[in-house]
Amino acid sequence: MSRFLTEWRRTHDCGALRLADAGKTVVMMGWVQSYRDHGGCIFVDLRDRFGVTQVKFDPAVSKDAHAAADRLRPEWVVGVRGQVISRGTNTNANMPTGEIEVEASELEIFNASKTPPFPITDRIDANENLRLKYRYLDLRRPTIQQKLVLRHEVTQIVRNYLAREHRFLEIETPILSKSTPEGARDYLVPSRVHPGQFYALPQSPQTFKQILMIAGYDRYMQICRCFRDEDLRAERQPEFTQIDLEMSFVDQEDVIGVISGLLRTIWRELKGVDIGATIPRMPYSEAMARYGIDKPDVRFGLELVDVGAIAAKSEFQVFRSVLERGGLVKALNGKNAGNTMSRAEIDKLGEVAQRYGAKGMAWVKVQADGTFQGPAAKHFSDEVKAELKAALGAEPGDLLCFVADSFVICNDALAHVRLELGKRLGLIDESRYAFLWVTDFPLFDESTEGGRYYSKHHPFTSPNPADMELLATDPTRVRARAYDVILNGMELGGGSIRIHDQAVQSRIFELLGLSEAEAQAKFGFLLEALTYGTPPHGGIALGLDRLVMVLAGTDAIREVIAFPKTQRATDLMAGSPGVVDQAQLAELSIRTVVSEP
Ligand code: AMO
Ligand code: AMP
Repeated sequence: MSRFLTEWRRTHDCGALRLADAGKTVVMMGWVQSYRDHGGCIFVDLRDRFGVTQVKFDPAVSKDAHAAADRLRPEWVVGVRGQVISRGTNTNANMPTGEIEVEASELEIFNASKTPPFPITDRIDANENLRLKYRYLDLRRPTIQQKLVLRHEVTQIVRNYLAREHRFLEIETPILSKSTPEGARDYLVPSRVHPGQFYALPQSPQTFKQILMIAGYDRYMQICRCFRDEDLRAERQPEFTQIDLEMSFVDQEDVIGVISGLLRTIWRELKGVDIGATIPRMPYSEAMARYGIDKPDVRFGLELVDVGAIAAKSEFQVFRSVLERGGLVKALNGKNAGNTMSRAEIDKLGEVAQRYGAKGMAWVKVQADGTFQGPAAKHFSDEVKAELKAALGAEPGDLLCFVADSFVICNDALAHVRLELGKRLGLIDESRYAFLWVTDFPLFDESTEGGRYYSKHHPFTSPNPADMELLATDPTRVRARAYDVILNGMELGGGSIRIHDQAVQSRIFELLGLSEAEAQAKFGFLLEALTYGTPPHGGIALGLDRLVMVLAGTDAIREVIAFPKTQRATDLMAGSPGVVDQAQLAELSIRTVVSEP
């Protein structure tokens, strides 16, 4: 039996040793990062999650250890015993342990390793699918480790801030659950005991946290997994983690106050950055008017301008017919972009607009003499040109972009043209953290497809008391007591003050087109609970993965999750989803109709 597994315990991790430790006899264990034979001595970089230490195998110190070291290859797992010595003039200033090395007298090979399919180094160009298949190797890379350590630190701060400093209780809610109202598709789990019936995995703990308030557990928090079967994007995963909380006897200011303080603490402790005493606020209507989007990136200008009144005077049929149908014509001024952007680059901007539903993007460049040049120029009289210039602050060299469409498409398309232009023109200060609270969302979406309304947040969100009458007369104009916190153009979190009155809740379900029976079947338990002494309450959930993404400076959500799923919702390492055997299906009373892949 090896003495490494019996009498010698690990004395130091691979990041611990410094010059002051010189002379000590140490036992270290880790992975072989690299191997160099300098004719005579063999040098091995030994790595664990704490760091890297250089180990020297000198035949003059131990012939056996030197001979064994000759077999080492990357990713072999070894134990080393030896003495810490100074590297003298050969220090490596790039390594925290760079002033010392360990002169090995004993070496134990715990395990060899196959040659990894990609090198375990920070900079690699291996295909992401290969890295996901061998996730345990990818996870060994220091850049990934740093992100997961950062994630751990965030959760520690969150628990400390909420649970210790602000008296929140951490309470778990079920995973085998019932459909929750966040508007994505559910992941379903068949019940064996109740053939033909299903659990739903929670899209959020929304109903349970409200029930907890009714049950008197004021100030709930949870760092919880949520499941949503939706189209995946760079900042979306099918299972993701929320920092979820709910509070009783509060209004919007209390929730905003707690979260603002939490974000301030996280940035102070992890970034050494003071995000300021107050996070700016912006009502939804203003965000839409100025940026065309409810999560504006306010690190740069290029604001949208409603030029409908001017466009109405133009000869441009496209603009006029959109306006006649109650749509919008908005524009933005790409400062100096007329000078720098080629026709092909401007066409690319037009493609962005089209990707978001616009039929086109009209544009003109402002010439040195102040005249317009471009496909839309011919539609504008001199008077209209002068008014457009004034409205957009246009000067020679500028690029003016126009989109005419419905409220939704016009804003969405131009908002994304703006983001693209911001990137192209280098207007985004990547070192900035621009937080923003967007408030006063409408209670319902603009769409009333199928003769019903759709909740903008979720159906338990309280209408603004000032707008109660509009609920009967003009529901789309009702504002909600809902708020989102935005960071650099990304929705970090969202929440609302909830309805605590059963009659109002029933009325909302009605507007959402849920019959009494459907409402009962879906949320009957909550509706009933509301009748047993419900405190006014509200809360919010932050996306933990997104928060860590920003802190880690990455725009790939998979980088901050230990075992993420691909864009197609698969786990390439574990191989999920996968087929199950017929017996298992039979037990669940399930017959599949798709042919097995
Ligand atoms: P909401 O649906 O806005 O609100 O979600 C809150 C936050 O969760 C994050 N998030 C996601 N992160 C990664 N992948 C996803 N697929 C994903 N979906 C959402 C976002 C988002 O801002 N129950 C309510 C909260 C409440 O009202 O208290 C809710 O879930 O950062
Ligand atoms: P014309 O050359 O007169 O046909 O003008 C067409 C220009 O208007 C092209 O640049 C189109 O991309 C643009 N266009 C078409 N539809 C729209 C729209 N709904 N909003 C803004 N521009 C549009």
